[in-house]
Amino acid sequence: MPAAIYIKDLSKKYGTFEALRNIDLEIPTGEFFGLLGPNGAGKTTLINTLVGLAKKNAGTVEVLGHDVGADYIKTKSLIGLSPQEVNVDRFFKVRKLLEFQGGFYGMPRGERRARAEELLIQFDLKDKMDVQFWRLSGGMQKRVMVARSMMASPKILILDEPTSGVDVEQRHDLWGFLRGLNADGTTIILTTHFIDEAEQLCERVGIIARGQVIEMGAPQDLISKHCEQFFRVNGERKDQLNGYKVNDIEIQRGSLEEVFLKVTGHSIHEEQTDRAHD
Ligand SMILES: Nc1ncnc2c1ncn2[C@@H]1O[C@H](COP(=O)(O)OP(=O)(O)O)[C@@H](O)[C@H]1O
Ligand SMILES: [Mg+2]
Repeated sequence: MPAAIYIKDLSKKYGTFEALRNIDLEIPTGEFFGLLGPNGAGKTTLINTLVGLAKKNAGTVEVLGHDVGADYIKTKSLIGLSPQEVNVDRFFKVRKLLEFQGGFYGMPRGERRARAEELLIQFDLKDKMDVQFWRLSGGMQKRVMVARSMMASPKILILDEPTSGVDVEQRHDLWGFLRGLNADGTTIILTTHFIDEAEQLCERVGIIARGQVIEMGAPQDLISKHCEQFFRVNGERKDQLNGYKVNDIEIQRGSLEEVFLKVTGHSIHEEQTDRAHD
């Protein structure tokens, strides 16, 4: 079976500015993959090249074996996108937004209705179906956006910053829905600048900074690779554990945050807007 996403040597420029440089990325079918990086790293640009919203300058981009440029109609039908910026008519009611989306994919009226109903139930939105989008909380809006992107039952779901601006409780709700979709067989790719989100949800994480994917792997593998493990007793680092009680010994394991700092030299919270700096 071809990979869900296959990217080789992808480069993208805005004018002379290189937003993406020599990206190689292969995501197998069924994976829950996270693209982790600070603001300005190139996450949205990478997503946009996958869904045909940004034109690449060089390289190969394939979705389930189909070229995104040559086979645009096909690849578009395979992907559901929940974009970073809300791109819907905020005065539409929730159910209408879903049904309308089905229309873009040529679903007949009856099928649109049935699929919208199914998703309203699946995403626990049934009691909100006649509410205008703008009246919903940020977290609920994101949930509607995800449900909407699943209207045509795509094999691959791409979420660009699904939980930015969403409060903690609603964030965890959304994570639950995403885990459910992935368990049902949907390949999920999300971008995030929240380290815990990547760590909690993703089987593999790609760390992106200044337009390059600089490290990739399962969160635990990355932590083992980059973070030293050592022991503490009463907060102090110890190399020798003889004589200490087992209950007082704490293992320092490292975190994805530490991995990020090690491989990029920056905290994820620093914005990457300084284009001249390299
Ligand atoms: N349409 C555009 N024209 C020019 N520069 C852009 C455009 N879109 C994004 N950029 C620049 O490309 C870089 C990556 O942006 P983006 O992909 O939005 O990053 P992220 O999603 O990781 O925050 C940033 O420096 C941004 O300013
Ligand atoms: Mg972005």
